[in-house]
Amino acid sequence: MAMSEGSSPGVTLPEAPASAGEGAVGDAGAAALAAGTGGRAKRTRVKAIMEATDDPLLGKTVAVKGWVRTKRDQKAFSFVEINDGSCMKGVQVVIPQDVPTYSAVERLTTGASVSVTGVVVESPGKGQRFEVKAQEVHVVGECPTEYPLQKKRHTLEFLRGIAHLRPRTNTIAAVARVRSALAQATHDFFREEGFLYLQSPIITASDCEGAGEMFRVTTLPSEVSKVPTLEDGSTDYSQDFFGKPAFLTVSGQLSGETHACALGDVYTFGPTFRAENSQTTRHLAEFWMIEPEMSFADLRDDMDNAEAFVKHVVSHAMEVCGSDLEFFNKFYDKELLQRLQRIKDKPFVRTEHERWLAETRYDTAVFVYDYPRDIKAFYMRDNEDGKTVAAMDLLVPGVGELIGGSQREERLEQLEAKMVEFNLSPEDYWWYNDLRRYGSVPHAGYGLGFERLVCYVTGVENIRDAIAFPRSPGSAEF
Ligand code: 4AD
Ligand code: MG
Repeated sequence: MAMSEGSSPGVTLPEAPASAGEGAVGDAGAAALAAGTGGRAKRTRVKAIMEATDDPLLGKTVAVKGWVRTKRDQKAFSFVEINDGSCMKGVQVVIPQDVPTYSAVERLTTGASVSVTGVVVESPGKGQRFEVKAQEVHVVGECPTEYPLQKKRHTLEFLRGIAHLRPRTNTIAAVARVRSALAQATHDFFREEGFLYLQSPIITASDCEGAGEMFRVTTLPSEVSKVPTLEDGSTDYSQDFFGKPAFLTVSGQLSGETHACALGDVYTFGPTFRAENSQTTRHLAEFWMIEPEMSFADLRDDMDNAEAFVKHVVSHAMEVCGSDLEFFNKFYDKELLQRLQRIKDKPFVRTEHERWLAETRYDTAVFVYDYPRDIKAFYMRDNEDGKTVAAMDLLVPGVGELIGGSQREERLEQLEAKMVEFNLSPEDYWWYNDLRRYGSVPHAGYGLGFERLVCYVTGVENIRDAIAFPRSPGSAEF
C-alpha cells in the first residue's frame, strides 16, 4: 500500500452528468465575478466541467475559483491547473499572453487562490475533455514559496502535522468527500427504514460500557489545593457544576434505549469519547458513532439491519465517489474496489463465537455472535445456556471490529443481578432500569465506528487520516 500523497496523479474520471444548478454564467455577469470577491452562486464548480458528458458547457463563459496546483509557462500561453475541492481533478486553464490581466500569471504560484473567467473549450491535451480558455485572471490570495504543499509527494504522517492545510491534498480531500457521502447515506438509510434521528447528550453521568474510560467534565478549580474535599479527603462533587461527577459520553446507547422504548426505531449519530491510552491505528480519543436501537427486535434483526446498513452506505459511496475510490484503489489498495463490490453483492458470513475461534479467517465481512458473557458489557442479554450473551461484532478484513451490538437485557431481575455481578450499582442506573419496570420490550441495537468505516471504504490505514482533526493521547493540536 502506497503511503504517500501524489500531488497530481492522473486518475481517469468516469463520465457523469454535471450537477443541476452548476454551469455557465452570462457574459455580462462574468467580469464582475472575476474579481473573486463574491458571486458564489454563479461560480462554476470544477466538477461540473470535468465530469460533464454532454456539450451544454462547450463555448460557454464560466467563472472558476480555486487554488493553483501547478503552472507551466510556454511562449504564447501559460497553463494553470486549478483545484477547488469539488472533485479529484483540477481544471486546466489556458491563459493566452494577450489577455489584459496576463500580468497576474507571474503571481500564480502553487497554493495561490485564483479567480478566472473564461470560455469552456475542447481540450487537445490528454486526460480531460474540456479546459478553460481564460479571458480574465485575478490572484485572490498570493502564496509564498514556503507553502508546505509544493508539488511533491508528502507522507501522510507529515500531513498530520499540518492538519489545517492537508485538506488541500488529493488524499485528504478525497477522504473528506467520501466521509461526507457516507454520513449523508447514513441519514438516508435510516430515514428510508423509518427510524427517528435522536440527538443524545454528550455530557453524561453514566458509564454505558462500564469500562471506566471516560473523560471528566468539571468546573472545579484546576489547582489541586483549591479542590473542595469531604472529610475522608475525597473530592466533594456536590460543589461541582452538576452536583455529581460528570463525563463525556462513551456511547449514546442508553439514551437511545429510552427513545426506542417509546418511539420504536431510533438512531444517533454523534461524537463519542474514550480515554483509553492506546496509540493504535484503530483508536481515537474522540470518534463518531452511529447507534441504531430497535424495539421488538432480537439479535437476528440487529444483524439484518447492520448488514443492510453497511451495504447501503458502501453502494452509495461507490455511486457518488467513483473517481475518489479509483484514486484510493490505484494509490493505496489495489483490491479496494473488488472488496467493496463483494461487500455490496455477497451476504455477510454469520458464525457463533465458539465456532469462529476454531475456523479459518474469512476475506469478507463476518458477524461473530453469542460471545462469552464475562467479556462483554452488563446490558447484553443472557442466553439460555447461562454462558453466553446475545452479542454480535461485525469484523471486516483490514479494520477488525467495525460494529459492536447486542440484544439488550429487558428482564429487570436479570439486569439488576448482573449489574451487581459486574460491580455496578443498580441505583445509579435507576432510570435505565425503569425501562424494564414499565412496559419492557425486547430490543436490540449496535454501534458502528464511523472513522473505521471511512478507513474501510477508502483503504486508508491510519484512523487519524479518516477524521479532520484527530484526537489521541498527547495530541489535540488544531
Ligand atoms: O463495541 P463498542 O464499544 O460498543 C458500544 O459502545 C455500544 N454501546 C454500541 C451499541 O450497541 N449501541 O463500540 C462500537 C464501535 C466499535 O465496533 C468500533 O467500530 C468503534 O465503535 N470504536 C472506536 N472507534 C475509534 N476509536 C475508538 N477508541 C473506538 N472504540 C470503539
Ligand atoms: Mg466492541
